[in-house]
Amino acid sequence: MCGIVGYLGSKKTLQVLLDGLRRLEYRGYDSAGISIGARGKEIKNIKSVGKIAALAQAIGNQEIDGDFGIAHTRWATHGGVTEKNAHPHHDCKKNIFLAHNGIIENYRELRAKLLEEGHKFYSETDTEVLAHLIEKFFSGNLENAVISALKLVKGSYGLAVIAKDDPEKIVVAKNSSPILIGMGNDEYLVASDASAILDHTKEVVYLNDGEIAVITLQGVEFTNLANQKLDKKKEVLEWNISEAQKGGYPHFMIKEIFEQADSIKNSLAGRLMVKEGNAKLGGIENIAEKLRDIDRLIITGCGTAYLAGLVGEFMLEEYAGIPVEVEMASELRYRKPVLDKNTALLCISQSGETIDTLVALREAKMKGLPTMGVVNVVGSTIARETEAGIYNHIGPEVSVASTKAFTSQLTILSLLTLFLGRQRQMSLVTGQRIAKELNALPKLIQKVLEQEPEIKKLAKKYYKSNNFLFIGRKYNYPVALEGALKLKEISYMNAQGCAAGETKHGPIAMIDKDFPTFAIAPKDSVYEKMISNIEEIKARGGSILAIATQGDKEIAKITKDVIYIPKTLEMLTPILSVIPLQIFAYHCAALRGYDVDKPRNLAKSVTVE
Ligand code: AGP
Ligand code: GLU
Repeated sequence: MCGIVGYLGSKKTLQVLLDGLRRLEYRGYDSAGISIGARGKEIKNIKSVGKIAALAQAIGNQEIDGDFGIAHTRWATHGGVTEKNAHPHHDCKKNIFLAHNGIIENYRELRAKLLEEGHKFYSETDTEVLAHLIEKFFSGNLENAVISALKLVKGSYGLAVIAKDDPEKIVVAKNSSPILIGMGNDEYLVASDASAILDHTKEVVYLNDGEIAVITLQGVEFTNLANQKLDKKKEVLEWNISEAQKGGYPHFMIKEIFEQADSIKNSLAGRLMVKEGNAKLGGIENIAEKLRDIDRLIITGCGTAYLAGLVGEFMLEEYAGIPVEVEMASELRYRKPVLDKNTALLCISQSGETIDTLVALREAKMKGLPTMGVVNVVGSTIARETEAGIYNHIGPEVSVASTKAFTSQLTILSLLTLFLGRQRQMSLVTGQRIAKELNALPKLIQKVLEQEPEIKKLAKKYYKSNNFLFIGRKYNYPVALEGALKLKEISYMNAQGCAAGETKHGPIAMIDKDFPTFAIAPKDSVYEKMISNIEEIKARGGSILAIATQGDKEIAKITKDVIYIPKTLEMLTPILSVIPLQIFAYHCAALRGYDVDKPRNLAKSVTVE
């Protein structure tokens, strides 16, 4: 999720690594570190919390000679933001040093086994397990030890490893988290994105999942985990730094939209128990018994986070049987809600710093409620002030318009529904069905993303409209609100979200040929009602765009402007139905020539009232 840089060559390794980390600062991070080696010497390892400037300060004017090294900017997922938890991590003997992006799903089991075998751990991270696992297999050849270790690992990694006792070598591995090799003249670089490489070379090799690169002064060899040699082709990047930071996409927003299959995988990583039909949520284990006794849950947040809460309300009521109230944090903090000891508060916040949500949280804590958070930024204020919580694990969300955070919030609310439901009346079979469908989501998301060209065509047809209505029912009512929010905040159109059943109580008066409607109408329990609402709008001359379920023949009789999504559980359809709306809003704003990533008047995190 965050930043990796590696270097082997004759330049000043320390400078190349620090400059590379600075190129990756745009991603946001919470701590950083470097490890530099030279033949016959101990590997120098310096880490610090905070910005690269703090790391440079910690290095001071130490002369650190070395011709190979690795560096990392951390986006914490497991373990707080501390110097000990910063990367690069090392083994017991301080022979192996490594930088890791991603999540080691089975780190608990691996750590327990390594502890039994006498390994001593110093950090709280999942990553440190890798260093000790490689140490276990190391007998002089670093790549063989890395391959043996990775065969036991489940999870996502972009990984760069060096060893004192196998010097002038960097072993690189990839599974799900991007990593590439820069092929310079008698020098080689490693980076999690090309922006850290382009100052030195434009010739790169991207690793695919399950591939390993072994970098030495003699060159680079590529193999897979079966130690079979691979013939990888070089690519020449014509990107400038800014383009490289967006991975070749024109904006962070569209890059983050396309990350959603992977980000959902990371949100689910290590948490789904399909066989048991349950969810393992380590971050709320400390209040699990309190949660068993609650008879009411208040969910609060702002903007997109609040809308995620509205979807969560449907999930938790239908599948966990818990009465839920969802309150805008900016309202909740001024109300006098009737709170009692059997009410819990759930705060949803991507940044973990939204002031309205934070103040609402403090109010609830003053009244003695159990509090938990769904937060993306580890160590953020809301994450620290809630007594329990579940991290999104989706890496930095740079674009002001929230996309991958929303689908991750819904995914985590589904996991929470499983957990609370199975504490109550939910059967094993129902739990297994939900868990199985959750497991299938990343592949279904990929199918939705493949329709981007069709959705772009719809944007081209409608981007000049100045008004838009979004309608949905039940689970997709909040999606209608989110679709309207996405469109209004980046294209500045008058986009309104409305419960479909409410259109005839007022909003339908606005409808005419210049006021199109986006209807979210998957084949679910309220499909027929949606079709009636769509017909009512059409009868008044309104144009209709629709999100429908693959195979639905009815909807095409009403409108040709349909985007189809794969079938899934009704409670999970919002995770799929929102993606075409995100892409539609993105292209409308881009076609209108606006600054998609930094819309006027908005901030990524609203930390002032
Ligand atoms: C959504 O696209 C906006 N960026 C905004 O509504 C955002 O969701 C809201 O400010 C809450 O932010 P948070 O999740 O960081 O608390
Ligand atoms: N899971 C690792 C940690 O929490 C890596 C996080 C990252 O990708 O930056 O340290």
